[in-house]
Amino acid sequence: MAYMLLNGELIERSEGKIDIEDRGFQFGDGVYEVISVYGGHPFALNEHLDRLFESARKIYMNIPYSKTELEDGIKRLLQKEKKNNCYVYMQFSRGTSIRNHIIPKTATGTLIIYLLDAKQIDEWKQKGIKTVITEDIRWLRCDIKTTSLLGNVLVKQKAVEKNASEAILHRDGVVTEGSSTNVWIVKDRLIRTHPADHFILNGITRREILSICENHQFRCMEQRFTVDELLEADEIFITSTTLEVMPVVEVDGQKISGGKPGPITRKLQSLFEQEIQFRCFDVKEKFSVK
Ligand SMILES: Cc1ncc(COP(=O)(O)O)c(C=O)c1O
Repeated sequence: MAYMLLNGELIERSEGKIDIEDRGFQFGDGVYEVISVYGGHPFALNEHLDRLFESARKIYMNIPYSKTELEDGIKRLLQKEKKNNCYVYMQFSRGTSIRNHIIPKTATGTLIIYLLDAKQIDEWKQKGIKTVITEDIRWLRCDIKTTSLLGNVLVKQKAVEKNASEAILHRDGVVTEGSSTNVWIVKDRLIRTHPADHFILNGITRREILSICENHQFRCMEQRFTVDELLEADEIFITSTTLEVMPVVEVDGQKISGGKPGPITRKLQSLFEQEIQFRCFDVKEKFSVK
Protein backbone atom coordinates (compact mmCIF):
# COMPACT_ATOMS: atom_id res chain seq x y z
CA MET A 1 0.00 0.00 0.00
CA ALA A 2 1.26 3.47 -0.86
CA TYR A 3 0.78 6.29 1.62
CA MET A 4 1.22 10.02 1.66
CA LEU A 5 1.35 12.81 4.18
CA LEU A 6 -1.12 15.51 3.31
CA ASN A 7 -0.72 18.56 5.56
CA GLY A 8 0.71 16.33 8.26
CA GLU A 9 -1.93 13.61 8.05
CA LEU A 10 -0.84 10.10 7.05
CA ILE A 11 -3.35 8.66 4.59
CA GLU A 12 -3.50 6.14 1.76
CA ARG A 13 -2.23 7.79 -1.39
CA SER A 14 -5.45 7.04 -3.26
CA GLU A 15 -7.37 8.98 -0.59
CA GLY A 16 -5.36 12.17 -1.08
CA LYS A 17 -7.52 15.03 -2.34
CA ILE A 18 -6.30 18.48 -3.34
CA ASP A 19 -8.61 21.38 -4.22
CA ILE A 20 -8.73 22.28 -7.94
CA GLU A 21 -7.99 25.85 -6.86
CA ASP A 22 -4.76 24.87 -5.20
CA ARG A 23 -2.16 27.24 -6.63
CA GLY A 24 0.26 24.38 -7.12
CA PHE A 25 -2.20 22.93 -9.64
CA GLN A 26 -3.30 26.24 -11.17
CA PHE A 27 0.01 28.13 -11.41
CA GLY A 28 2.81 25.70 -10.55
CA ASP A 29 3.09 28.00 -7.52
CA GLY A 30 5.09 25.77 -5.22
CA VAL A 31 8.49 24.39 -4.32
CA TYR A 32 9.73 20.84 -3.97
CA GLU A 33 12.57 18.51 -3.13
CA VAL A 34 13.57 14.98 -4.10
CA ILE A 35 15.74 13.20 -1.56
CA SER A 36 17.45 9.81 -1.96
CA VAL A 37 17.07 7.27 0.82
CA TYR A 38 19.81 4.63 1.07
CA GLY A 39 19.61 1.87 3.67
CA GLY A 40 16.73 3.68 5.41
CA HIS A 41 18.72 6.90 5.68
CA PRO A 42 17.99 10.06 3.64
CA PHE A 43 21.19 11.43 2.07
CA ALA A 44 21.94 15.11 2.77
CA LEU A 45 18.49 15.63 4.29
CA ASN A 46 19.44 18.80 6.10
CA GLU A 47 20.77 20.39 2.90
CA HIS A 48 17.60 19.45 1.00
CA LEU A 49 15.37 20.91 3.72
CA ASP A 50 17.44 24.08 3.82
CA ARG A 51 17.05 24.43 0.05
CA LEU A 52 13.28 23.88 0.32
CA PHE A 53 12.99 26.75 2.81
CA GLU A 54 15.33 28.88 0.70
CA SER A 55 13.28 28.27 -2.49
CA ALA A 56 10.10 29.15 -0.56
CA ARG A 57 11.68 32.36 0.75
CA LYS A 58 12.63 33.38 -2.79
CA ILE A 59 8.98 33.21 -3.88
CA TYR A 60 7.71 35.01 -0.74
CA MET A 61 6.18 31.88 0.70
CA ASN A 62 6.25 30.82 4.32
CA ILE A 63 6.38 27.11 5.12
CA PRO A 64 4.57 26.77 8.46
CA TYR A 65 6.46 23.63 9.49
CA SER A 66 9.77 23.20 11.26
CA LYS A 67 12.57 21.11 9.84
CA THR A 68 12.01 18.60 12.67
CA GLU A 69 8.33 18.26 11.71
CA LEU A 70 9.29 17.57 8.10
CA GLU A 71 11.92 15.04 9.21
CA ASP A 72 9.35 13.32 11.42
CA GLY A 73 6.97 13.13 8.48
CA ILE A 74 9.61 11.39 6.38
CA LYS A 75 10.33 8.96 9.23
CA ARG A 76 6.65 8.10 9.55
CA LEU A 77 6.38 7.32 5.84
CA LEU A 78 9.54 5.21 5.78
CA GLN A 79 8.32 3.24 8.79
CA LYS A 80 4.82 2.82 7.39
CA GLU A 81 5.97 1.61 3.96
CA LYS A 82 9.01 -0.24 5.37
CA LYS A 83 11.19 1.16 2.61
CA ASN A 84 14.95 1.40 2.77
CA ASN A 85 15.92 2.45 -0.73
CA CYS A 86 13.63 4.99 -2.38
CA TYR A 87 13.17 8.70 -2.97
CA VAL A 88 11.24 11.10 -0.79
CA TYR A 89 9.15 13.56 -2.81
CA MET A 90 8.18 16.65 -0.85
CA GLN A 91 6.16 19.53 -2.23
CA PHE A 92 4.80 22.66 -0.64
CA SER A 93 2.39 24.76 -2.71
CA ARG A 94 0.96 28.17 -1.85
CA GLY A 95 -2.36 26.47 -1.18
CA THR A 96 -5.97 27.10 -2.08
CA SER A 97 -7.38 30.48 -3.01
CA ILE A 98 -9.89 31.75 -5.60
CA ARG A 99 -8.02 31.88 -8.88
CA ASN A 100 -6.12 35.14 -9.24
CA HIS A 101 -2.47 35.75 -10.10
CA ILE A 102 -2.02 38.02 -7.09
CA ILE A 103 -0.36 36.22 -4.19
CA PRO A 104 -3.13 35.63 -1.62
CA LYS A 105 -2.65 36.81 1.96
CA THR A 106 -4.72 34.08 3.53
CA ALA A 107 -3.82 30.78 1.82
CA THR A 108 -2.06 28.46 4.26
CA GLY A 109 -0.31 26.18 1.79
CA THR A 110 -0.49 22.51 0.95
CA LEU A 111 2.23 20.09 2.01
CA ILE A 112 2.53 16.66 0.43
CA ILE A 113 5.21 14.09 1.12
CA TYR A 114 5.36 10.61 -0.38
CA LEU A 115 7.85 7.94 -1.37
CA LEU A 116 8.87 6.99 -4.90
CA ASP A 117 10.62 3.81 -5.99
CA ALA A 118 14.31 4.35 -6.71
CA LYS A 119 15.49 4.12 -10.33
CA GLN A 120 17.84 1.28 -11.27
CA ILE A 121 20.88 3.23 -12.40
CA ASP A 122 23.76 0.77 -11.97
CA GLU A 123 23.98 -0.18 -15.64
CA TRP A 124 23.79 3.47 -16.72
CA LYS A 125 26.48 4.38 -14.21
CA GLN A 126 28.72 1.70 -15.73
CA LYS A 127 28.14 2.53 -19.38
CA GLY A 128 27.29 6.22 -19.34
CA ILE A 129 24.43 7.97 -21.13
CA LYS A 130 23.67 9.79 -24.36
CA THR A 131 22.70 13.45 -24.36
CA VAL A 132 21.63 16.18 -26.76
CA ILE A 133 22.36 19.90 -26.70
CA THR A 134 19.40 22.24 -26.83
CA GLU A 135 18.59 25.87 -26.10
CA ASP A 136 17.79 26.74 -22.50
CA ILE A 137 14.26 28.05 -22.91
CA ARG A 138 13.50 28.32 -19.19
CA TRP A 139 12.88 31.44 -17.12
CA LEU A 140 15.66 33.38 -15.37
CA ARG A 141 15.19 32.06 -11.82
CA CYS A 142 16.47 28.52 -12.29
CA ASP A 143 18.02 28.76 -8.80
CA ILE A 144 14.53 28.22 -7.34
CA LYS A 145 13.43 24.58 -7.10
CA THR A 146 9.88 25.28 -8.16
CA THR A 147 7.17 22.91 -9.36
CA SER A 148 6.76 25.13 -12.47
CA LEU A 149 8.77 22.74 -14.62
CA LEU A 150 7.30 23.13 -18.09
CA GLY A 151 10.55 24.45 -19.61
CA ASN A 152 12.42 21.47 -18.15
CA VAL A 153 9.73 19.08 -19.40
CA LEU A 154 9.94 20.41 -22.98
CA VAL A 155 13.72 20.20 -23.22
CA LYS A 156 13.75 16.70 -21.70
CA GLN A 157 11.29 15.70 -24.42
CA LYS A 158 13.79 16.87 -27.05
CA ALA A 159 16.31 14.42 -25.60
CA VAL A 160 13.83 11.56 -25.50
CA GLU A 161 12.83 12.15 -29.14
CA LYS A 162 16.47 11.71 -30.13
CA ASN A 163 16.88 8.55 -28.08
CA ALA A 164 18.99 10.33 -25.48
CA SER A 165 18.54 10.43 -21.71
CA GLU A 166 19.30 14.04 -20.93
CA ALA A 167 19.24 17.46 -22.59
CA ILE A 168 22.26 19.67 -21.97
CA LEU A 169 21.12 23.29 -22.09
CA HIS A 170 22.86 26.41 -23.33
CA ARG A 171 22.12 30.14 -23.33
CA ASP A 172 23.85 31.95 -26.20
CA GLY A 173 26.40 29.15 -26.45
CA VAL A 174 27.14 28.96 -22.71
CA VAL A 175 26.26 25.63 -21.11
CA THR A 176 24.03 26.10 -18.07
CA GLU A 177 22.85 22.70 -16.80
CA GLY A 178 20.78 19.67 -17.79
CA SER A 179 16.97 19.46 -17.79
CA SER A 180 17.16 17.88 -14.34
CA THR A 181 20.89 17.67 -13.64
CA ASN A 182 24.04 19.76 -13.27
CA VAL A 183 26.64 19.45 -16.03
CA TRP A 184 30.41 19.09 -15.61
CA ILE A 185 33.33 18.89 -18.03
CA VAL A 186 36.91 17.71 -17.55
CA LYS A 187 39.69 19.07 -19.76
CA ASP A 188 43.39 18.48 -19.06
CA ARG A 189 42.37 17.25 -15.60
CA LEU A 190 40.58 20.52 -14.76
CA ILE A 191 36.95 19.99 -13.72
CA ARG A 192 34.44 22.77 -14.44
CA THR A 193 30.78 23.43 -13.79
CA HIS A 194 28.56 26.52 -14.16
CA PRO A 195 28.65 28.88 -11.13
CA ALA A 196 25.68 28.76 -8.76
CA ASP A 197 23.78 31.82 -9.95
CA HIS A 198 20.19 32.28 -11.16
CA PHE A 199 20.86 30.34 -14.41
CA ILE A 200 21.12 26.98 -12.64
CA LEU A 201 19.81 25.04 -9.69
CA ASN A 202 22.57 24.68 -7.12
CA GLY A 203 22.26 20.89 -6.90
CA ILE A 204 22.85 19.16 -3.60
CA THR A 205 24.90 16.54 -5.48
CA ARG A 206 26.80 19.38 -7.18
CA ARG A 207 27.73 20.77 -3.74
CA GLU A 208 28.82 17.31 -2.61
CA ILE A 209 31.06 16.90 -5.67
CA LEU A 210 32.59 20.35 -5.14
CA SER A 211 33.48 19.42 -1.59
CA ILE A 212 34.81 16.00 -2.64
CA CYS A 213 37.01 17.79 -5.21
CA GLU A 214 38.29 20.13 -2.55
CA ASN A 215 38.96 17.37 -0.02
CA HIS A 216 40.73 15.16 -2.55
CA GLN A 217 42.77 17.86 -4.28
CA PHE A 218 41.08 17.66 -7.69
CA ARG A 219 41.50 20.83 -9.74
CA CYS A 220 37.96 22.15 -9.96
CA MET A 221 36.39 25.51 -10.84
CA GLU A 222 32.89 26.94 -10.86
CA GLN A 223 33.34 28.61 -14.21
CA ARG A 224 31.15 28.97 -17.29
CA PHE A 225 32.07 26.96 -20.40
CA THR A 226 30.77 27.01 -23.96
CA VAL A 227 29.14 24.35 -26.11
CA ASP A 228 32.41 24.16 -28.10
CA GLU A 229 34.33 23.48 -24.89
CA LEU A 230 31.77 20.84 -23.96
CA LEU A 231 32.29 19.07 -27.28
CA GLU A 232 36.06 19.21 -26.88
CA ALA A 233 36.04 17.96 -23.29
CA ASP A 234 38.04 14.88 -22.27
CA GLU A 235 35.17 13.79 -20.05
CA ILE A 236 31.63 14.95 -19.30
CA PHE A 237 29.41 13.93 -16.43
CA ILE A 238 26.13 15.09 -14.94
CA THR A 239 25.00 14.99 -11.32
CA SER A 240 21.69 14.79 -9.51
CA THR A 241 20.04 13.16 -6.53
CA THR A 242 18.58 10.36 -8.64
CA LEU A 243 21.49 9.91 -11.10
CA GLU A 244 24.34 10.54 -8.64
CA VAL A 245 27.51 10.95 -10.76
CA MET A 246 26.50 9.90 -14.27
CA PRO A 247 29.03 9.69 -17.11
CA VAL A 248 28.04 11.23 -20.45
CA VAL A 249 29.49 9.27 -23.36
CA GLU A 250 27.68 10.91 -26.25
CA VAL A 251 26.56 14.45 -27.09
CA ASP A 252 24.48 15.02 -30.24
CA GLY A 253 25.77 11.73 -31.66
CA GLN A 254 29.43 12.64 -31.02
CA LYS A 255 31.33 10.21 -28.78
CA ILE A 256 32.99 11.66 -25.67
CA SER A 257 36.10 10.05 -24.12
CA GLY A 258 35.95 7.29 -26.73
CA GLY A 259 32.38 6.42 -25.80
CA LYS A 260 33.39 5.23 -22.32
CA PRO A 261 33.27 6.90 -18.90
CA GLY A 262 36.56 8.70 -18.24
CA PRO A 263 38.92 8.08 -15.29
CA ILE A 264 38.13 11.25 -13.33
CA THR A 265 34.39 10.60 -13.66
CA ARG A 266 34.97 7.05 -12.40
CA LYS A 267 36.97 8.32 -9.43
CA LEU A 268 34.29 10.87 -8.51
CA GLN A 269 31.58 8.21 -8.84
CA SER A 270 33.42 6.02 -6.40
CA LEU A 271 34.17 8.83 -3.93
CA PHE A 272 30.50 9.81 -3.99
CA GLU A 273 29.48 6.18 -3.36
CA GLN A 274 31.87 6.13 -0.40
CA GLU A 275 30.14 9.22 0.96
CA ILE A 276 26.75 7.45 0.68
CA GLN A 277 28.17 4.35 2.38
CA PHE A 278 29.64 6.40 5.18
CA ARG A 279 26.64 8.66 5.80
CA CYS A 280 23.76 6.25 5.14
CA PHE A 281 24.92 2.67 5.71
CA ASP A 282 27.67 2.99 8.31
CA VAL A 283 25.70 5.31 10.62
CA LYS A 284 25.05 3.95 14.11
CA GLU A 285 21.67 5.55 14.62
CA LYS A 286 19.27 4.60 11.85
CA PHE A 287 16.99 7.42 10.73
CA SER A 288 13.71 5.57 10.28
CA VAL A 289 13.98 3.15 13.22
CA LYS A 290 12.37 4.34 16.45
C1 LIG B 1 17.26 21.71 -13.19
C2 LIG B 1 18.00 20.86 -12.21
N1 LIG B 1 19.32 21.04 -12.06
C3 LIG B 1 20.03 20.29 -11.20
C4 LIG B 1 19.44 19.28 -10.47
C5 LIG B 1 20.27 18.45 -9.53
O1 LIG B 1 19.99 18.80 -8.20
P1 LIG B 1 20.19 17.77 -7.00
O2 LIG B 1 21.61 17.32 -7.06
O3 LIG B 1 19.90 18.57 -5.80
O4 LIG B 1 19.22 16.65 -7.22
C6 LIG B 1 18.07 19.06 -10.59
C7 LIG B 1 17.41 18.03 -9.80
O5 LIG B 1 16.24 17.78 -9.91
C8 LIG B 1 17.33 19.86 -11.48
O6 LIG B 1 16.00 19.70 -11.65
